[in-house]
Amino acid sequence: MPDGRAGRAFVLVTGGSSGLGLECAGRLALAGRDVAIASRDARARSDAVRRIRSIARGGARVADLDVDLAEPASVRALVGRIEADGLAIDALVCNAGILASRLERSDDGLERTFAVNHLGHFLLANLLLARLLRSAPSRVVVVSSAVHDPRRFTTMPHPAGEDPLRLAREGALTRGRFDGRRTYATSKLYNLWFAYELARRIARARLGEPGRRVGVAAFDPGLIPGSGLARDLSPLARVAWNRVLPFATLPLAPFFPTIGSLRRSGAALAGLALAPADRASGARYFGSHARWRASSSSRASYDERRASELWEASVPLSGLRPGESPLVP
Ligand SMILES: NC(=O)c1ccc[n+]([C@@H]2O[C@H](COP(=O)([O-])OP(=O)(O)OC[C@H]3O[C@@H](n4cnc5c(N)ncnc54)[C@H](OP(=O)(O)O)[C@@H]3O)[C@@H](O)[C@H]2O)c1
Repeated sequence: MPDGRAGRAFVLVTGGSSGLGLECAGRLALAGRDVAIASRDARARSDAVRRIRSIARGGARVADLDVDLAEPASVRALVGRIEADGLAIDALVCNAGILASRLERSDDGLERTFAVNHLGHFLLANLLLARLLRSAPSRVVVVSSAVHDPRRFTTMPHPAGEDPLRLAREGALTRGRFDGRRTYATSKLYNLWFAYELARRIARARLGEPGRRVGVAAFDPGLIPGSGLARDLSPLARVAWNRVLPFATLPLAPFFPTIGSLRRSGAALAGLALAPADRASGARYFGSHARWRASSSSRASYDERRASELWEASVPLSGLRPGESPLVP
């Protein structure tokens, strides 16, 4: 991996090997930004790196990093590698996500959707916060989804109201059984609680100086059929996602802003990662329904008490220790 060069910092995109993350990473490299992608599958990553390099401009460097966000030890190893290589990072795009069809647990016994979509990013952002502050103005962009918001028509179940500690182990339930779609929707609400709480805690701790702060933004890419997100679903659902929906939604896209595409949604996400800190700060939400202008998320997403409870539960669940994050003294 290349060393950090003076004055140039990387944008780290989790899940940058596929779908939205790959498109976003490509856009960043096209804009001349150094980009690092982090995910599990080494072959998918090296294919992605090749594709990103083929369109990179301005000498943009592309680094690939191994991480399994479901495993705190792997997240720590990723941060260790970034530190050992002296990589400056001025934007973290928390993009990786899964939609599980059955209950699976991480090595720590946590439900995988919760572990990947929320907890891995919680740990990563906290462990990288000091580094992000050193490269400030910098930003954290958290990829959520319209499925977190019961006001939006998405065909997905609404987020569950479960206690995060129970949900972390069992996932969300429907009629007493694991419901992968509801668990996913809940994880996307957690993404917003995390983003908003991160911004509040950064402000409360007065981290960074004026003009040199870490901004936080949350993003909903809209519906992007054809991405890898359906890989764990039934064969029928995969055919619908990969072969039917991309064509069926195409003529509807001009009329329904919540129908995204890899190209448009990836460009919008890259735009947020590149935005000056003042535009991306204050944990504003950029929803597809508002064509990615700052907009409002669900009423529940602004519940400060529940966001704080999720944060407090996430510290021990992720194994974050005092002193490892400027926010966990
Ligand atoms: N597609 C949509 O319609 C849609 C709508 C709203 C929101 N979103 C959000 O957009 C984001 C990207 O989704 P996508 O549709 O682009 O899906 P995708 O094509 O499946 O991409 C997911 C990425 O996450 C990585 N990933 C999965 N598990 C991981 C783990 N344990 N550790 C590290 N990386 C992991 C995958 O690589 P490996 O498997 O190699 O690790 C892959 O690079 C997600 O947060 C999703 O919730 C998508």
